[in-house]
Amino acid sequence: MKKVLFVAGEGLPYCKSGGLADVIGSLPQALCKQGDECAVVLPMYKVIIDKHPNMEKVADFHVQSGIINKDASIYTDKVGDVVYYFIRQDDYFYRDGLYSFHDDGERFAFFCKAVLDMLPHIPFKPEIIHTNDWQTGMIPIICKQEYQDAEYKKYKHIYTIHNLLFQGNFPKDILRCFNLSEYYYNNGDIKFDNGISFMKAGIIYADEVTTVSEQYAREIVTSEYGERMERVLADKGNRLTGIVNGIDTVNWNPETDKALYKNYTEHDIRGKKACKRSLQYQLGLRVADDVMLIGIVSRLTWQKGMLLLLEKLGQIMNQDVQLVILGTGDSYIENELKKIESTYPHRAVFYCGYNEELSHRVYAGCDLFLMPSLFEPCGISQLISMRYGTIPLVRETGGLKDTVIPYNQYEETGNGFSFRYFSGDEMMYIIAYAIHVYYENKAAWRKLIKHAMTTDVSWDLSAKKYAELYERI
Ligand code: ADP
Ligand code: GLC
Repeated sequence: MKKVLFVAGEGLPYCKSGGLADVIGSLPQALCKQGDECAVVLPMYKVIIDKHPNMEKVADFHVQSGIINKDASIYTDKVGDVVYYFIRQDDYFYRDGLYSFHDDGERFAFFCKAVLDMLPHIPFKPEIIHTNDWQTGMIPIICKQEYQDAEYKKYKHIYTIHNLLFQGNFPKDILRCFNLSEYYYNNGDIKFDNGISFMKAGIIYADEVTTVSEQYAREIVTSEYGERMERVLADKGNRLTGIVNGIDTVNWNPETDKALYKNYTEHDIRGKKACKRSLQYQLGLRVADDVMLIGIVSRLTWQKGMLLLLEKLGQIMNQDVQLVILGTGDSYIENELKKIESTYPHRAVFYCGYNEELSHRVYAGCDLFLMPSLFEPCGISQLISMRYGTIPLVRETGGLKDTVIPYNQYEETGNGFSFRYFSGDEMMYIIAYAIHVYYENKAAWRKLIKHAMTTDVSWDLSAKKYAELYERI
């Protein structure tokens, strides 16, 4: 049994931009169920303050880091077994949105230092500090180099990479926001090109590095997927491991989900048909049971294979299918997708934006879920779609490869469809195959639904692996 402090830039149920928030909202809960004690610390963004105006204050404190001199406060809340702490500093975090501001380097330099300075002020006394992604990457080095106190020397650091693409690379003068000497730049530890990389610092100074699937752990030590960090990662040797994500199976449960028109289980999927009809009706698609409805819930970026989708949109829509896309992201992709409703009236619809409730209805109401990612550290969406009996069709990369077992018509195994090479033709070939199975072999499709819905997408196994890692270090 260990005491673990999770640190991240986002986490449910407070704020979310992607799968990281799902993980931070569910992994600590799963660990607590297994006997560990967990707390989470997040920046107190505007959305959190606006939604939780009466949160309990723990303490005021002062944070000094290089040129940063700011008063800050700690707030706290509890969800299930997990205690949450929030670092409030309105100059940095009282803004619309979480990231992508001109001063992100300074904001998260502050956050990293503030998390460590917060520790004497809170009752939770961690043994392990579990940091996540670039926003928290500087914590291990600051903790190890700046604090002489014995308490700080005892902390063990785990750093989890959720997406190697976002590295928190800043010009060298971001060093002004730290109390670190230039030595760590000159010796190469935090230097990347001619600047500073928060993620590189996390990788080098953490005692253990993990990433969110075994396959992605193998991929990121290669030049194809390493985002120029492959050498640093390979140097970690067996202190780099992959542990696949799970999902919160209480929140994502077709049997109880309040966002659904009708609930259903793997034993009785009639409710899923009703969900499909109501989704079609809500979105202005032709209401029909017997037409395959393909769904996408995604950030609209090249990582997610959206360019393959645009390339093959015409061919996909030449088949007897309907398409619903929920997402937001690159304006080029958004603008292209905005045309689909007029090109394919009552057959295709694009909801441009972020909508939690609609996402539940899309996961439940569709037949096939498309996720042709160029790379995918783990992927949460395909796990959710399986739980709702919506068959994922994915590219075999990262966590998609680890979680989706391709349909085998001879052995009648599998919980989805997959293709290997990142090519529009390959994707199209497999989409056509899935469509064929859907229309021509209804028994096989029912079996696929059953396999998908009974796939273990919970945290049970993976939380055990994290617990073992905590014990080991
Ligand atoms: P990533 O974190 O790379 O975006 P994941 O598959 O790990 O991809 O997680 C994406 C999460 O964000 C899922 O929970 C998905 O349902 C959710 N999501 C993505 N886009 C939207 C959207 N437009 N509206 C609602 N939820 C979304
Ligand atoms: C990142 C990755 C995604 C992963 C998520 C949670 O956003 O892009 O694949 O599921 O983090 O780990």
